[in-house]
Amino acid sequence: MDSIQLHHLLGKMTREEKIGQMVQLAGEFYKEEDSENTGPMHEMNLSPEKMSTIGSVLGVSGAQTLIDIQKEHLAKSRLGIPLLFMADVIHGYRTIFPIPLGIASTWDPNLAEESAILSAKEAAVSGLHVTFAPMVDLVRDARWGRVMESTGEDPYLNQLYARAFVRGYQGKDLINNKMSVAACIKHFAGYGAPIAGREYNTVELSERTLREMYLPAYQAGIDEGSKLVMTAFNSLDGVPATANKPLMRDILRKEFGFQGVLISDWASVGEMISHGIAADLKQAARLALKAGVDIEMMTGGYLNHLHDLIEEGEISESLLDEAVWRILTLKNELGLFEDPYRGANSKEEKTIVFSLKHREKARKIAEESMVLLKNEKQVLPLDIQQKIALFVPEEQSKDVLGAWSWKGQQSESVSVYEGLLQHVSKESIVLKTYSPLKNENHKDWLTEVKNVDVIIIVGGESSYMSGEGASRSNLKLPAEQIQLIKNLRTTSKPIHLILFNGRPLDLTDISQDVDSMIEAWFPGTEAGSAVANLLFGQKNPSGKLTMSFPRTVGQVPLYYNQDSTGRPLTPYNQDDKYLSRYLDVENSPLFPFGFGLSYTEFKYSPMQVTVAESKEEVRIEVTITNNGNLSGAEIVQLYIRDKVGEVVRPVKELKRFKKIFLEPGQSAEVVFQLQKQDFKYVHQDLSVSVEAGEFDVMIGSNSEELEIETIYLDFKKK
Ligand code: IFM
Repeated sequence: MDSIQLHHLLGKMTREEKIGQMVQLAGEFYKEEDSENTGPMHEMNLSPEKMSTIGSVLGVSGAQTLIDIQKEHLAKSRLGIPLLFMADVIHGYRTIFPIPLGIASTWDPNLAEESAILSAKEAAVSGLHVTFAPMVDLVRDARWGRVMESTGEDPYLNQLYARAFVRGYQGKDLINNKMSVAACIKHFAGYGAPIAGREYNTVELSERTLREMYLPAYQAGIDEGSKLVMTAFNSLDGVPATANKPLMRDILRKEFGFQGVLISDWASVGEMISHGIAADLKQAARLALKAGVDIEMMTGGYLNHLHDLIEEGEISESLLDEAVWRILTLKNELGLFEDPYRGANSKEEKTIVFSLKHREKARKIAEESMVLLKNEKQVLPLDIQQKIALFVPEEQSKDVLGAWSWKGQQSESVSVYEGLLQHVSKESIVLKTYSPLKNENHKDWLTEVKNVDVIIIVGGESSYMSGEGASRSNLKLPAEQIQLIKNLRTTSKPIHLILFNGRPLDLTDISQDVDSMIEAWFPGTEAGSAVANLLFGQKNPSGKLTMSFPRTVGQVPLYYNQDSTGRPLTPYNQDDKYLSRYLDVENSPLFPFGFGLSYTEFKYSPMQVTVAESKEEVRIEVTITNNGNLSGAEIVQLYIRDKVGEVVRPVKELKRFKKIFLEPGQSAEVVFQLQKQDFKYVHQDLSVSVEAGEFDVMIGSNSEELEIETIYLDFKKK
């Protein structure tokens, strides 16, 4: 449809038809079984007439199902306006990729993009048009369950990933590429910073921090062309995001130039009543529309009150037209007016969804996402001849997909046991299931492990323990796991711990009791194959953390790019008390941002730093050599520190990184260039600029092991 036809269509719509477009219903209203509900079901007060005007549905899929729903809907819709089908395809549709925090640990946005391309393909052929992804919320608090869905604590990395995911889901040609889906940047804004990590809690951020740390990733996703944005549940500066006019109208629409569809999160319009900024749903609907929310997800504020609000002169009809125009535009950009079934194809669905090719990519990404946290005396990789005792938590052996893996099926995913069997025979493995709930008799096991060479323990969290609604106040492993590790430590056998979890954990209690640790996150469908390939050295680990791992939950929120304080703890004042420090624990994390080991060893040459004649640019060179016996990848990281700013600056800021692959003995030169733009920051008056002065440039393999050089840059203009 061209825009004249689209305007014509809008002109023909009754007010009721317009309101219907602005309503999103859960799949349950169309098909009971198989729909995904991630929020409360409210009374919607739906008549058959209203049903025929509805604009979109969430959480139901399957090519034939959606073709049927669409057909039936079109038969009832007076103007033949097709439904939009949306769902949470977060890290895969049925082929499940690692959780986003795992994908982030690859430090490879291309892999994020590839995972999104394949997820989009599976979702689109199953009839979906929109995915509620990517979540680009910056996170600093591991207590929050949804850190698993984020790409971590760094604004620069988050921007790259936001762009990569949007590119992957939407492709270059949404209208013609039926195997793509529209992306939805979420949750605007600041949802990743709930106080004390408690889900749905208040967010308290200065506008400067919001702009410097949190907003850039949303903006990057929008600049990349994301068709939708979802509002956050939280309040920001005292106003729930869904009603926050300055946030939505001024920042999102005017400043970022976002012209797509703004959708509320599930019931977040209705939740204004609990927030205490609306007395009833009618008032909530008015606030949401004034803030510019186009689609209300799963409360009946728009459906049941917009008509009266217009009649009463509380809102103008033009607000309705504005929202409906955006929704119709999205439908048009997806080509739904010409082909309301779009990619839905039950025949192709059978071959595309969960195909071997997709699983192969899932395995590769899973391998790249895993982080080797410890490898004492190079106990890994394992020798194929070794006899293994494998301890897996009963219900967790196939619990490898993680939260938000709706169509993923545990039964068709690869457990660690199955992964090991791809390399060794059943006879070489003594398999033991331990239940986190039962107090097993570990003594018997001690006798049984006598004849094995190594012990592998699969631990961490169950998938229920992270994701939405899964905040924790304790970041330790479950007590039974700690006990199991301690008991097995009494043997002299090397212990290898494989961790499946959705957040940074406090591993202090057990880090000395195990010989190796692999942070596998929730790796997805091909979990076991990827873990086994790492354990046996078919693949050399190369993942690095994008969230700091604390020594104790008391350090949280803990992040590498913290602001300088007036009384910093340094190597030279360790005995002083009146410093920014703890009495009972070091300030540093157990495993820092950017950390991850390899089976090989990378040596960094001293860096060469050359400031350009203009004094506005700098070039940093370093040579990396693989000094070990195995080929492997290293992620070289470049940080800066602005030594004197107009406002307090972070002690470190990631500015560039490069992932390089080196054969044994091979060297590579890595060159980074930084321009004026890279040194700019948000000032007190919220302007973005930079002043001349001294800067540290730092290069290394993680945010703590860095070579530092101080340079002077003379920016002529701010
Ligand atoms: O997309 C999600 C969102 O992230 C959390 N609430 C429910 C939405 C739809 O399922």
